[in-house]
Amino acid sequence: MPPQHIAIIMDGNGRWAKERGLPRLKGHERGAANVRPVTEECVAQGVKFLTLYAFSTENWKRPGDEVNGLWILLGHFLELELPTMMKYGIRLRTIGRTHELPEEAQQKLANTIAATAENKALTLILALNYSSRTELADAARRIAEDAKRGALDPATITPDTIGARLYTSEYPDPDLLIRTSGEMRLSNFMLWQLSYSEFYITPKMWPDFGKEDLRAAIVEFHKRDRRFGGI
Ligand code: IPE
Ligand code: IPE
Ligand code: MG
Repeated sequence: MPPQHIAIIMDGNGRWAKERGLPRLKGHERGAANVRPVTEECVAQGVKFLTLYAFSTENWKRPGDEVNGLWILLGHFLELELPTMMKYGIRLRTIGRTHELPEEAQQKLANTIAATAENKALTLILALNYSSRTELADAARRIAEDAKRGALDPATITPDTIGARLYTSEYPDPDLLIRTSGEMRLSNFMLWQLSYSEFYITPKMWPDFGKEDLRAAIVEFHKRDRRFGGI
């Protein structure tokens, strides 16, 4: 059985560019172009959900030119990749506070999500303006609102009560987390959902992470003994 859900922290675009004397945005361009082969390989392997960390709530700290460039790139990506999404049966979704994105990016996302809504092979979830702590705060607010209007008794709150109010409520937890560029941290990504995921960290920068690297990660995943606290 392939992992049902793979999540990737696509890191290292900036360093990839710097190593080549290129501007950081060139690295982001190559990184965006790299989504297609990796997504195709997920379809080929029978993976049902692929979540890609594309922009964190902390990434607004970056220079305005880089941030604006990323939103323009997102628009190009969505237009360019729509035929591929239709060809392979890829359904696009997002997690994160996308209502805070520039209007144009929101519109393009809404169009692509609608156009791919009936696709069945793979759900591609872009984490945009996402952070786990924001997600948990949003869930806590919803729980408090439900309790306040009498729709929820605080005594009955369980982990499922929280899970049902996360952005990921419709999706299974990731089985496998991949982070490129060698960083050994989560950077505020899916803290709740990754509780029992297997981690695979590769020194490769995201623009260099190819189909064969994804296959290697899946091979490694199959060697792991997932005990979920049992024996
Ligand atoms: C990941 O690459 C993409 C985003 C966070 C948008 P980085 O831009 O973080 O690349 P490095 O880590 O600076 O090399
Ligand atoms: C994590 O990468 C966010 C994305 C890949 C979108 P960062 O480059 O922002 O993380 P840090 O700053 O190295 O922790
Ligand atoms: Mg980085």
